[in-house]
Amino acid sequence: MLKPTPGTRHFLSLFDLNRTELQTIIRRANELKAQQQAGHTHTTLLTGKVLAMLFDKASTRTRVSFETGMAQLGGSALFLSPRDIQLGRGESLADSARVISSMVDIVMIRTFEHARVRTFAQHSQVPVINGLTDWNHPCQLLADMQTYAAHRGDIAGRIVTWIGDGNNMCHTYIEAAQQFGFQLRIACPAGYEPDTELLQSAGTSCQIVRNPQQAVVNADLVVTDTWVSMGQENTKTERQAAFTPYKVTPALLAEAAPDVLFMHCLPAYRGLEVSAEVLDGPHSVVWEEAENRLHAQKALLEFLLCGEQT
Ligand code: CP
Ligand code: NVA
Repeated sequence: MLKPTPGTRHFLSLFDLNRTELQTIIRRANELKAQQQAGHTHTTLLTGKVLAMLFDKASTRTRVSFETGMAQLGGSALFLSPRDIQLGRGESLADSARVISSMVDIVMIRTFEHARVRTFAQHSQVPVINGLTDWNHPCQLLADMQTYAAHRGDIAGRIVTWIGDGNNMCHTYIEAAQQFGFQLRIACPAGYEPDTELLQSAGTSCQIVRNPQQAVVNADLVVTDTWVSMGQENTKTERQAAFTPYKVTPALLAEAAPDVLFMHCLPAYRGLEVSAEVLDGPHSVVWEEAENRLHAQKALLEFLLCGEQT
């Protein structure tokens, strides 16, 4: 196995960075965004750097934001699907990691089993970013925390309510509760809980509150996600039946704090996990949350490739 270049950092979960580093990236994301909006470009920050993007699943936001982000910073990105590379025909992850990381500067992977990003990272000479696995989605949380901070300031001590599936996004909120210091209430149907060990390791920062009406009381942020994640399409019917009481509606949101924010990583399905009135309503910041994927990931790329910017 090749040794990673000294100093190589991966971003496979929010636990790969400490709280100060996460906050530095989020501040930098807001700075890059403000400067870009003021007409200032950053086309020399990553001149000549190449990002390889391996996608085993579909993506709109992750692909567009990473590819655009690299271009805006002066680098470039390669989109690699399993149809196009030998990994899809059975070349091992270890061999693929060894070869790809000998040519590019940084790698982003979206795949199914989390073990795949871990294995790739173990054999990579360059930083590896998790662009979503069945376990978690840390890039999304950078954008979510950036969005919360821009509207409401520090999230530490606030109440966040997760409604719906105890899935990869829920797992990342459990990581975030510990890293950013908020209280997480999870309202999920029986049988759709997040991983027990992960939940236990979060201690008092996270709790399951079955009843969604109770879970949202005084919440500062309410978050949901699709009921049918990628790879779960064959269980759609039973999932829709189990999750129907967990739809985020205006009536449910009315139980939360008056200035509650609503987030959803998207893609959203109006009328299922969230009603159109909520998704398109005054508490929703989902479009800004989606745009912030671009800014947060540019800050992450800069951090991983250049070290902390002050
Ligand atoms: N939220 C998110 O990761 O979206 P995509 O699946 O479109 O990348
Ligand atoms: N939980 C969803 C998130 C999509 C960004 C999925 O894994 O499909």
